[in-house]
Amino acid sequence: MNSKKIIQEATDYIIKTSQIKHFDIGIILGSGLNDLFFDVEALYIDYKDIPHFKTSTAPGHQGRFMIFNYANKTIIAMQGRLHYYEGYGMDAVILPIEVFKELGISYLITTNAVGAINENYEVGDIVIIKDHINFMGYNPMIGSNNHQGSRFFDMSNAYDLSLRTEAETLANKMNINTRSGVMLGYSGPCFETPAEIRAFRILGADIVGMSTVPEAIASAHANLKMVSFSLITNMASGVLKEKLNENHIIEIAQAKSKDLKNLILQLIWTK
Ligand code: HPA
Repeated sequence: MNSKKIIQEATDYIIKTSQIKHFDIGIILGSGLNDLFFDVEALYIDYKDIPHFKTSTAPGHQGRFMIFNYANKTIIAMQGRLHYYEGYGMDAVILPIEVFKELGISYLITTNAVGAINENYEVGDIVIIKDHINFMGYNPMIGSNNHQGSRFFDMSNAYDLSLRTEAETLANKMNINTRSGVMLGYSGPCFETPAEIRAFRILGADIVGMSTVPEAIASAHANLKMVSFSLITNMASGVLKEKLNENHIIEIAQAKSKDLKNLILQLIWTK
């Protein structure tokens, strides 16, 4: 986790640049979903200009904050996130979440692209994450305690049950199919082997991805209410004969994201 000084300097830059002191909702837009709010008027802050921030190098991740009003709320959205595999270390990956906390958000909504381990799932399905298995080989809270809380904290509601239930009810009303699944976080950057995917299935994972898990840990540490949506862009390694390829994953995410986008926009209206 990051020190109070680092979190504060990054937060102060955002407040000074935007002239906004309090935000209602934080959003992380993952692969293929960067354009969710393409038609709103927004202020942009590049990560590279913010003290202590690293910039996104992942394909389909723009590397900037978007600040705007939507549904009468002040929203700060990440167009692109930072991943552990980019090599900056976990502190860089979770700094945005720690900053969200200081900005006063009440809810955190995240999205990502994942591979399906559960063979009943299909490409294009939306999964509301109910729990995770941290298989990234590292925990972002390793280090000294900071002002956001003790290193020892409960993880049983990291994916907030009330927000998940609300999202499911809303999806039903909108005739959008969702699944409730367990995500396994894998460091990447290479995709998994077929043997790893078989092992992860035995462990109880439904989906696999290279993000979100560190963010969920930082969010629980900061006592934020978080809901995470995954879009299945491919069946995981070895399930089908096809080879995995990141360009294909982004294309599928863009092509299949319409329902997920509508669901998130509606969820924001209800908050
Ligand atoms: N594995 C890991 N991350 C992913 C995948 C996958 O199959 N698909 C999209 N992100």
